[in-house]
Amino acid sequence: MKRQKPRSLLGIEGMEPKDISALLKLAARMNPAKPSNILRGKVIVLLFYETSTRTRSSFELAAKTLGATTILITASASSIEKGESLIDTGYTVSSLGADAIVMRHPSSGAHWLLAEHLNIPIINAGDGMHEHPSQGLLDALTILQAKKSLKGLKVAIIGDLYHSRVARSNAHLLPKFGAKVVFCGPPDLCPDDMAKIADGLEVTHDLDKALTGADVVMSLRVQKERLAGRQLSIEEYIARYQITPEKLTLAKKDAILMHPGPIIRGMELTNDVADGMQSRILNQVQNGVKVRMAILQSLLASKN
Ligand code: NCD
Repeated sequence: MKRQKPRSLLGIEGMEPKDISALLKLAARMNPAKPSNILRGKVIVLLFYETSTRTRSSFELAAKTLGATTILITASASSIEKGESLIDTGYTVSSLGADAIVMRHPSSGAHWLLAEHLNIPIINAGDGMHEHPSQGLLDALTILQAKKSLKGLKVAIIGDLYHSRVARSNAHLLPKFGAKVVFCGPPDLCPDDMAKIADGLEVTHDLDKALTGADVVMSLRVQKERLAGRQLSIEEYIARYQITPEKLTLAKKDAILMHPGPIIRGMELTNDVADGMQSRILNQVQNGVKVRMAILQSLLASKN
């Protein structure tokens, strides 16, 4: 297992349940409408080598709400395009006076590498197909707002599991608290050996089986940008795996529907499902700000 420096947020896999619970408790108390000065004077660099809407803007909003200054560096508008290495970019950012780096990078493990070289907290905002810990945390917070406890819940995650760092972080987090996670998608996007990711994780290619009795249904986007030339029959995917209102009735009556975004309407889910009573998609976005406030505060505010 990879080494995790104590003051970084690299992945859910290496985290203790008590540290996850503490972050979730702190997040639940955060109020994005009430700015504070707790991180005044801190500089948080948002280093994004991949596109992002929700994650980037909510980290920025979270940092500013806590009084920090943010600097955004995107690969397409920086020396990264000129060939600067990740470590050299890290040294540069650190010399500028960064107190923390929030990074999204296409390579799995890039954050662990950066954390080895720098002495400031590194916060993983997505490393390739590996982990997306702040998303796992905001998903847990969203479930807890509806379900009170994670213990005994059946969480069905449907779609492109193979390319999903969101699915992997959820698969590590939820079973730590007694929830049962079921991955479901076509064999190409949900290979059987994904069951090895975490203890108790189940893999099925049968949508009805995954949905039946579920407390939480999490829909995922098919990540076409990571298919690397492989063909996928969209019609077949929709026919077998799209979440429709009829399919959703297989889940428990009080089941909630989640999606990390971006949602592709008419592909992995229908309009009725995305906008329906069970949907918590926009709550997830709001919880993203709270969770990221909690992450930044816990890593940076206690420093002095
Ligand atoms: C996801 C991501 O980038 O990992 N989105 C997110 O952060 N909310 C999922 C995706 O791109 O489909």
